[in-house]
Amino acid sequence: MTAMRRFEHKTMLVTGAAMGIGGATARRLADEGAAVIVADCNEEAAQRKVSEILGSGGEAWFQHVDLASPSSIDHMGRAVADRVPCLHGLVNNAGILQTASIAETGDSDWEPQMTINLRAPALCTKALLPLLKKGPGHIINLSSEGAFIAHENRWVYTASKAGILALTRNMAREFVGYGMRANTVAPGWTVTEMHFLESEDPAAEKARLESLERQESVIPRLARPEEIAAVIAFLLSDDASYMTASIVHVDGGRVTS
Ligand SMILES: NC(=O)c1ccc[n+]([C@@H]2O[C@H](COP(=O)([O-])OP(=O)(O)OC[C@H]3O[C@@H](n4cnc5c(N)ncnc54)[C@H](O)[C@@H]3O)[C@@H](O)[C@H]2O)c1
Repeated sequence: MTAMRRFEHKTMLVTGAAMGIGGATARRLADEGAAVIVADCNEEAAQRKVSEILGSGGEAWFQHVDLASPSSIDHMGRAVADRVPCLHGLVNNAGILQTASIAETGDSDWEPQMTINLRAPALCTKALLPLLKKGPGHIINLSSEGAFIAHENRWVYTASKAGILALTRNMAREFVGYGMRANTVAPGWTVTEMHFLESEDPAAEKARLESLERQESVIPRLARPEEIAAVIAFLLSDDASYMTASIVHVDGGRVTS
């Protein structure tokens, strides 16, 4: 458990918090004293994350949401408002990755990635805005190194992640009067379920990725989800009180070197 307790008496919501970067973020925020709302569509995995946090002495609960559905996001907003008076942080983390070349991408292939990766952060922010204004609550939106460099067969995904940059800037401007800050975190390639859950042997694939050399990065390895979570926690904390509309690359130097 981390020694810092920057989020005592604070409540924060993390989307896609059942696993991966969102899971590590939920754990980190709870370890620092926050009550964490674990928002996800995968109830089983999310309840495991809640149990893990409760088991380590933290506070957390599950909130179902399907981020592809505006009515589900609205429902989440109402359910959260029934339970807490305000929010001190929102991490728009959930995202999905589908691969196809430009030529192979059909019209309907745009929908899941654009709605979950780009529209949902906007809709979640809007649904939770009354609570965020009262916090005040700071916002972190997850982009990707892919918003800055071309990646083969990921053009819809990377376009959705580039849109996050504009979304965050507008949030920063519009919400500054409420004492809210909004920042983008752009992770590099990180060892999460996104990259190993669907493989034939997830444990072996996870181990392979953890030991993979990545020469394109200055630090020649993949990130651990905890390394992204630590930066998200910093940006949500008062330690980052003069940071808003920033893009923070957490990619071992991949994009900026
Ligand atoms: N892993 C990487 O290499 C990497 C790199 C750059 C950016 N990112 C970004 O970081 C964020 C987290 O990625 P990750 O690798 O931890 O992903 P992950 O696949 O490991 O976890 C994603 C989580 O989001 C949830 N989710 C997916 N669709 C949902 C929906 N419709 N409604 C509610 N919940 C939903 C999943 O259940 C899961 O818990 C994403 O936005 C991703 O694009 C990841």
